[in-house]
Amino acid sequence: MKILVIGSGGRENAIVSAIKKSKKNTEIFCAPGNGGTAEIAANVPLKQDDIKGLLSFALENKIDLTVVGPEIPLSLGIADEFTAAGLKIFGPDGKASLLESSKKFAKDFLKKYNIKTAGYESFTDFQTAENYAGQKIHPLVIKASGLAAGKGVFISENPEESKKILDSIFNEKIFGKSGETVVIEDYVEGFELSYMIVADGTTYKPLITSMDYKKIGDGDIGENTGGMGAVTPNPYVSEDLVNKINKTVIEPALEGLKNEGIKYKGILYAGLMIKGDEIFVLEFNVRFGDPETQAILIRLESDIIDLFLSVINENLKDHELVFDDNKSICLVLASGGYPKDYKTGYEIFFDKELHSSGLISENGAEYHIFHAGTKKIGGKYFTDGGRVLNICAKGEGAETADIVYAIAEKINFENKYYRKDIGKIYVRP
Ligand code: GLY
Repeated sequence: MKILVIGSGGRENAIVSAIKKSKKNTEIFCAPGNGGTAEIAANVPLKQDDIKGLLSFALENKIDLTVVGPEIPLSLGIADEFTAAGLKIFGPDGKASLLESSKKFAKDFLKKYNIKTAGYESFTDFQTAENYAGQKIHPLVIKASGLAAGKGVFISENPEESKKILDSIFNEKIFGKSGETVVIEDYVEGFELSYMIVADGTTYKPLITSMDYKKIGDGDIGENTGGMGAVTPNPYVSEDLVNKINKTVIEPALEGLKNEGIKYKGILYAGLMIKGDEIFVLEFNVRFGDPETQAILIRLESDIIDLFLSVINENLKDHELVFDDNKSICLVLASGGYPKDYKTGYEIFFDKELHSSGLISENGAEYHIFHAGTKKIGGKYFTDGGRVLNICAKGEGAETADIVYAIAEKINFENKYYRKDIGKIYVRP
């Protein structure tokens, strides 16, 4: 079976690894891939936004299944193009992808279907937005409506800061077209939860819960990032809460999508804030979270290819989705300076005893090293992005964090940066 995975992050490396574990006979391609996928798949030098190029590649190479990692190709309608060409693709269509590619669309959708979300207004010009922000109680959340690689959300502490943020989005245009509309929403305090389900248009099944560490600094301070680490399960989440999320967020959202004429097929990721008994939807993503997925997929026991096919063929109800009972953790090693400016091209030195995947460490944890922003040149690895490597482990608890932090010390590159508190609240009490 020929499978194409689109993307170049740690998430895609984890997806390729999960596919590799299938008992099916597979030939895997990854476009454009990274230094890690180069080891276990054939990297294809096509960019994630080159929809025409990807379609030609898939047709010419008779690809049986395409799996889309990132949001950009989904927002460009790759699923529509591939499906129209008779190809099997995992990922929602362009219209469904508006849930992620337009924060305004998502907020209006939530409001229309009575799904709890923070109060908000959207704006298309600096002055009106600044007047509004100036009168609001702070902190306030300011979001670029379009895609911004996880960097388009700001928490502003006072009106002066709001003015600066709005100026940078509307006037300096730091997000280009993605910042033409801005959503300003009330700040909700609570604990954050990444909740993902997989849907086939009729049925849905939840993945295991996870928690993302979005801020760059220890103790959750500083800039927002794509995610600096993750743990599964989310330590704060009870079965009751999961049931409540399904009833008050997931089911009304899937019904709402149907009502809008959207058959939602793929992963739906709800970024939630839990405040007491209340569940607020902060955002929707239309794809696997990164780095949550790395921590989730190392616990997947059932065949991921069967999962993808059951969604495409709309028989998810017959698919048995099985995860093991471990706890897991993912630590992101980043380029110093990320999420702002950083340099790449530094050689990465791995301790010789390290192997990339599925090995049991001395303390009993199973660890995996996934590549994100790396490239392989002539047998050597070099940094090639903000988030460089993901070190993941699963086991009973604290030993998983011990092993990922021990491995982090055994991998070296110039300006290596990572948070020191990933998993602290539960696997590292
Ligand atoms: N880790 C957050 C995201 O994938 O959007």
